[in-house]
Amino acid sequence: MTITTCIFDAYGTLFDVTAAAREAAEEPGHAALRDCWQALAAHWRDKQLQYTWLRAITGDHTDFWQVTQDGLDWAMEATGLADPALRERLLALYWELSAYAEVPDMLADLKAAGFSTAILSNGSPNMLSGAVESAGLEGLLDAVLSVETVGVFKPDARVYDMVEARFGCARDEVLFVSSNGWDAAGAAAYGFQTVWVNRAGLPTDRLPGIPAQILSDLRTIPNLARSL
Ligand code: LAC
Repeated sequence: MTITTCIFDAYGTLFDVTAAAREAAEEPGHAALRDCWQALAAHWRDKQLQYTWLRAITGDHTDFWQVTQDGLDWAMEATGLADPALRERLLALYWELSAYAEVPDMLADLKAAGFSTAILSNGSPNMLSGAVESAGLEGLLDAVLSVETVGVFKPDARVYDMVEARFGCARDEVLFVSSNGWDAAGAAAYGFQTVWVNRAGLPTDRLPGIPAQILSDLRTIPNLARSL
């Protein structure tokens, strides 16, 4: 089946989630972060995601901004950082995460080739508008879909259902792109044609869905979409 619609995960896929800790570590007054920003970023991301899965399992939904703050609080305590001003700075930077360098050209190429493009993310609508705006991607996306519409986090199938609800396309007309192995597995099991962007060279997640394609960045997505 020909691809009509290219759907992207946001955090970790289009936007670099390590950028907030890395940039804060370079700023004056944040010397304590210089030696531990990578550990902080890893703990922050791990806890943020764990809280989404646990809240989805227990039916205790809150929005992604809350789990982002909760994950940061855990990570700061784990790395011995007790600095309210630094906490505020890290959270502010999370609203304007850098997009990976190839993202604008890749999306422009997809749009020029006539594909529909969208984000499908755990992020809350406000967080996603902040990130899309600060990366200058507004004109390159037909939709920014947030799980807040269905009130549960990925990989619940109700989230992936939002693509058909918005674009009216069959599952196998969708190229779904995520750097999160578990999200790629969920989307593949759901029936999307799926790419796992494995920038870090991680092992494949041992889950039921197997992504059809594994790439190391986003540059070849337009060629891939045209070839399927
Ligand atoms: C998202 C998370 C999974 O953007 O990164 O949905």
